[in-house]
Amino acid sequence: MSQASAGHDRVLDRLVVIGLGLIGGSFAKGLRENGLFREVVGFDLDPLSRRQAVELGVVDRCAETLEQACEGADVIQLAVPILAMEKVLARLAQIDLGRAVLTDVGSAKGNIVACAVRVFGHMPARFVPGHPIAGSEQSGVSAAKAELFRRHKVILTPVEGTDPAALALVDQLWRALGASVEHMEVEHHDEVLAATSHLPHLLAFGLVDSLARRHENLEIFRYAAGGFRDFTRIAGSDPVMWHDIFLANGKAVLQILDAFESDLVQLRAAIEQGDGHHLLGVFTRARAAREHFSKILARRAYVDVMHSNDLIFLANPGGTLNGRLRVPGDKSISHRSIMLGSLADGVTEVEGFLEGEDALATLQAFRDMGVVIEGPQHGRVTIHGVGLHGLKPPPGPLYLGNSGTSMRLLSGLLAAQPFDTVLTGDASLSKRPMNRVAKPLREMGAVIETGPDGRPPLTIRGGQRLTAIHYEMPMASAQVKSCLLLAGLYANGETSVTEPAPTRDHTERMLRGFGYPVTVSGNTARVESGHALKATRIEVPADISSAAFFLVAASIAEGSDLILEHVGINPTRTGVIDILRLMGANLELLNEREVGGEPVADIRVRSAKLKGIDIPEDLVPLAIDEFPVLFVAAACAEGRTVLRGAEELRVKESDRIQVMADGLQALGVKADPTPDGIVIEGGPIGGGEIHSHGDHRIAMSFSVAALRASAPIRIHDCANVATSFPNFLVLASEAGMRVSEEGNS
Ligand code: S3P
Repeated sequence: MSQASAGHDRVLDRLVVIGLGLIGGSFAKGLRENGLFREVVGFDLDPLSRRQAVELGVVDRCAETLEQACEGADVIQLAVPILAMEKVLARLAQIDLGRAVLTDVGSAKGNIVACAVRVFGHMPARFVPGHPIAGSEQSGVSAAKAELFRRHKVILTPVEGTDPAALALVDQLWRALGASVEHMEVEHHDEVLAATSHLPHLLAFGLVDSLARRHENLEIFRYAAGGFRDFTRIAGSDPVMWHDIFLANGKAVLQILDAFESDLVQLRAAIEQGDGHHLLGVFTRARAAREHFSKILARRAYVDVMHSNDLIFLANPGGTLNGRLRVPGDKSISHRSIMLGSLADGVTEVEGFLEGEDALATLQAFRDMGVVIEGPQHGRVTIHGVGLHGLKPPPGPLYLGNSGTSMRLLSGLLAAQPFDTVLTGDASLSKRPMNRVAKPLREMGAVIETGPDGRPPLTIRGGQRLTAIHYEMPMASAQVKSCLLLAGLYANGETSVTEPAPTRDHTERMLRGFGYPVTVSGNTARVESGHALKATRIEVPADISSAAFFLVAASIAEGSDLILEHVGINPTRTGVIDILRLMGANLELLNEREVGGEPVADIRVRSAKLKGIDIPEDLVPLAIDEFPVLFVAAACAEGRTVLRGAEELRVKESDRIQVMADGLQALGVKADPTPDGIVIEGGPIGGGEIHSHGDHRIAMSFSVAALRASAPIRIHDCANVATSFPNFLVLASEAGMRVSEEGNS
């Protein structure tokens, strides 16, 4: 076999497409154009379609009979209506098909497999059922487009005994057309399509018909605006095709229709009974799901091999920071506001909520457990608390994205619920240690399974009675402390946690804000069960961890004078200020005040000559998230900076010691990692390629480094900046930094 002209590794002899409609025609045309077959032959019962197919270059030729068409075929694509499939298969069963691979494009797969079994007596090993999720309201061969399947999904549903070579070949053909191919079980395909495609079509057809049959229909349609038009667009689809689909996939459609019918009955009852809470619950959940879904759809653009989903920041050298800015809300406080607001009695209003992916993951988890949450809109969130015992079992695993705080804090309160839960996360979260929470929770009587080596996913068995313990934490971790305090709200007796060094105390402060007694003496915090949380108002201050990038940026960029507004300066979080001051930074706290139990201030930063220091170990837990950018400050300082006692940095969103050392070295900075810290010599910074390893704080830190670099810095894998600081690029360039998304200056 010779090389294909289009660069594919082989040329096949003959493709036969039976049924020259939009889908069959587009398949034929696309493969004809990319030269994978020596010849593309079409067959259709309609002579006009056959003629047009040849005239439009969809096929090389058309055969007069099915038998003639299939002669010498390597691949036979069945693109006939589903209910015609049995007849066609029955005729094919009479023909010697040789080694031809059969495949099809039907929207329901169980029915087609059943037809094949009836006709052939078994499912032929070289029959690969398929379904392209593509189409348009147009139909017929004249609408065929070679690129119809580009960037669309195609689902193949091999069965037991499907020939792997045949499957690979069909897979290859769809990929050659630019589709992204997935494999699924037949039943699963039919259920998924019943829900995502067939039910919506049924509702659209049904609604339009129902309204059209009413005698005032003219009135209705005259006033029908965008909503009606959008919802019913698909009622313009081919009626015969859809008739076939519902008859072919009846079982799966009935299942989802029954579930929907009972939800509809509940919606009806809510309207009848004036139950606004139920309505709000459905609508807020639906809106959030829809947004989530739109994002997934948008990402599909990346299916194209020419693109990748590596979001690159290009940070150009130089710049000066000036003006005033307010960074987004505190991540730790935002998480806790959703958790405690959900468990409170009454309605909690939150302002300044961080609309980053991590805090949104927590918000979604509580929505999944039945809490009605309005917003977030411009940082405002309204949480209709369900009380400490009001959570409901979620419909599936709780996906927490990149967020360690969500997983560790939630595991504490989920250990005490009457239902089971599974907590999962993205690739980075799936590598993070969870035994630090699982172990003490088990001591309290929780039943928790982890993945290998104590990593996620976590499976938490509900219905356990927890007993209070005293726990001496082996590491300084606010997440572990908070997890145990939350479990303590449900445990029999008094739970107490002692930390080896002070860590952020937002959980303790906020519990008190919700009227829940917490006692703190020295390094020990205590709660007992039996009290309630009362809804409250929360104003989330700007996140000092996000402000830190600008504290360092304005310090190292000559001529800078910047004010950061309304920054949280809780003393368990201000290590970054102390460390920068020790290095000689010029930071001024203005307008210090207290908002909702948390101290805040405006911070003025002016450029300064920094010097290297030995970072005092007691400041490490108080600046734990700010070290990546502090390492950049160290690289710009005169002399050597030494960090010790910070091994926790190795188990953050990335191994922040190694990843920062690698990045600094790539820019020509002398940075030597040690097991529990790093030694950095200040000096000139060059340009180069940096890998952030999907860690938001690494990406932002190297954006700051560019202020003092001699050449551009390209930072890879920056999408996770959205977890904590979604508008970083906008604020950074407003302030005077020269960083932007590559290709998007
Ligand atoms: C957090 C605690 C810290 C911090 C994280 C947020 C919290 O983690 O790094 O970003 O909100 O409790 P550790 O508890 O693991 O130190």
